[in-house]
Amino acid sequence: MANNTTTIPVAPGDGIGPEITDATVRILQAADPSLKFIYTTVGMKAYESGIAAGVGDDTWQAIRDHGVLLKGPITTPQGGGYKSVNVTLRKTLGLYANMRPCISYHPYVKSIHPGMDVVIIRENEEDTYAGIEHRQSEEVYQCLKLITRPGCERIIRYAFEYARSHNRKKITCMTKDNIMKITDGLFHDVFKEISQQYPDIESDHMIIDIGAARIASRPHDFDVVVTTNLYGDIISDIAAEVSGSIGLAGSLNLGAGAAMFEAVHGSAPDITGRDIANPSGLLMSALMMLVYLGKADVANTIHNAWLRTIEDGYHTRDMFKSELSKDLLGTQAFADAVIERLGRVPLNLPHAEYQNNDLSTLPDYVPSTDNRAKKHCVGVDLFLNWDDQERDPEILAGMLLAAANDTNFDLKMITNRGVKVYPDGNPQTLKTDHWRCRFPSRVEEDINRQIPSLMARVNEIGLDIVKTENLYTFDSEPGYSKAQGEG
Ligand code: NAI
Repeated sequence: MANNTTTIPVAPGDGIGPEITDATVRILQAADPSLKFIYTTVGMKAYESGIAAGVGDDTWQAIRDHGVLLKGPITTPQGGGYKSVNVTLRKTLGLYANMRPCISYHPYVKSIHPGMDVVIIRENEEDTYAGIEHRQSEEVYQCLKLITRPGCERIIRYAFEYARSHNRKKITCMTKDNIMKITDGLFHDVFKEISQQYPDIESDHMIIDIGAARIASRPHDFDVVVTTNLYGDIISDIAAEVSGSIGLAGSLNLGAGAAMFEAVHGSAPDITGRDIANPSGLLMSALMMLVYLGKADVANTIHNAWLRTIEDGYHTRDMFKSELSKDLLGTQAFADAVIERLGRVPLNLPHAEYQNNDLSTLPDYVPSTDNRAKKHCVGVDLFLNWDDQERDPEILAGMLLAAANDTNFDLKMITNRGVKVYPDGNPQTLKTDHWRCRFPSRVEEDINRQIPSLMARVNEIGLDIVKTENLYTFDSEPGYSKAQGEG
């Protein structure tokens, strides 16, 4: 006999995770009894059982076997403690595309923006979320922001393909390339390149700060937004919240061989265990999963029942408004209300119109250019931890000039927190114990091999080099930023 069951691995997660997962799974099961759910371990339970990465082997195996994971939110300690399980899952599985629709269901769920319908597409692996952080001195801590050309090309192409296949008219790219000219500049440049190949879709760019403000105040100006990891994380929370409630938005994390579905919100420790959380965000994610699995008909049935439930005025606490709502329901009672309405459709809100596989296609990654730039080393930045009592850059410069004497490097400048303090520094500039000292090379060839001898000299005079960055040009264009205050 043919096996018609579809198996879905489910990781309930932490905080409100088990409650909203229970509600969501009950709705899915009622709509399609052929679905089979297997429960796997992530988050606190995994840590408590000694799994340091927070993801149990059963979870990895289930994703390998079934290609999807329906995941509840996971509590991640702030400041110290273990690394984010969400980031581990996204990066290990190569889920580089994060898609978050933020839709208003006004007037049934009160929103300051009736009719809002914005999709945020967020790069999901790179940026400061690469998680490469170092403490380099008593006073200075660093987080690396990594932006790659393949990473930009993949997510931006995905955004255009998504827009085209979902009849979206416009994509707005958001970056901060007025400040981060090299990293965010790359994202914006790649956006401009790829947009040329999609003349049917309008494209524009906004600096992220005004972009975030406008999403909050004028979301109707936007259709699809594509951005880097951190900005995307922030603006999708803003967009979900102003659409009506953070509890409403679902998200898809998509990679070449797997997909993970989770709500936009977190584990909400403030309302855990009280049966008041809105399960809709996870349910909306689960509907995207059904579409991904080729069950668009089931997704449409559930979504229509859900729309009818909120039209009928049955709301969880975050959606409840006495003038609009008929009844305040707990998490499980809300799920029951949706189950009761399976087979019914909304009377006023647009009906769900999912189509099979409209979420699973990832464009193939084909590098947009095979021109490789000629890379040439022209010097080095030495980062020093130097804590002389006076913190006088002239004293440090004197020591470095002496150390570099009879090497092939000149001391061009010293910066502190990116601000030039030598030569011609400003006494008002705050000086920490962390100094970036730029040494361009006087010769053209073999520069990388000479850097260690410069470092050895600097070490010999007792200075602590905490890090180096070689300075490269690419086709003669500098691949490094100028200092603040440098001409
Ligand atoms: P949060 O999203 O958990 O909560 C923010 C606010 O929204 C709280 O007032 C909460 O009660 C409310 N809220 C969230 N979901 C709701 C729902 N379904 N129904 C009704 N109200 C809801 O964000 P917070 O407090 O910043 O983070 C808590 C924990 O969640 C942290 O450990 C964080 O790292 C984690 N987190 C996990 C995510 C994930 O697993 N994908 C995403 C975001 C945060």
